[in-house]
Amino acid sequence: MLQVVTIDGISGSGKSSTAKLLAKALGFFHLDSGAMYRMHTLTSMKQGFKPDQHSDLKQVADSLEFSFAENGELLANGQSLPKEIRSPEISSHVSEYCKAKIVREALAKQQRKLGVSQPCVAEGRDMGTVVFPDAQWKFYMTARPEVRAKRRAKELEAAGMQADYGEILQNLQERDSKDTTREHSPLRQADGAVEIDTSDLTLDEQVSILSRLVRTAP
Ligand code: DC
Repeated sequence: MLQVVTIDGISGSGKSSTAKLLAKALGFFHLDSGAMYRMHTLTSMKQGFKPDQHSDLKQVADSLEFSFAENGELLANGQSLPKEIRSPEISSHVSEYCKAKIVREALAKQQRKLGVSQPCVAEGRDMGTVVFPDAQWKFYMTARPEVRAKRRAKELEAAGMQADYGEILQNLQERDSKDTTREHSPLRQADGAVEIDTSDLTLDEQVSILSRLVRTAP
């Protein structure tokens, strides 16, 4: 089996923070597939492409070569990913840009290549179902919508961006709906994935639950 931990789940369920710290605790690399879709959306929008221009979007995907720096940072064409990929504007468009099958296939191929290159914690929506169906450990994270919106608002504020709780909650719910109902690789719990509801857990508790499960289920 592949030395990959997959963490899939809805937006704001705590995937990113947990994946980052879990990777550190295990000595694995952190593969943030959402950041790759965000970078693809940002680049496509900058080039003026609309979500239905599939062949142009595929070219954008092929023009972005993702790699890991020696310290594990995810790079696009050798550069750090810009902070802008986390902006509310990109958050509200990414679900539209990441839908096309050819775009997903192009990015999934890169994700797979990165994931087999070294032990990884791969985080996203289709890591356990489509990209790494043979991963050794799989998790599916959820949390109540209000808890998720509060967490996202805090993250944005900490990054110096404006945060409107109501808008964030609405955006999260719209994204959940688009991500779970889209035609190609919709978000769903992978076979064999352990479900973790993080609503009433602290970040430390999430990380210690997952690392205990990984260490005891080799
Ligand atoms: O995890 P995130 O919120 O940064 O992801 C941003 C968007 O990218 C999310 O709305 C859905 C999409 N995504 C996806 O379709 N498949 C993935 N494996 C990861 C993210």
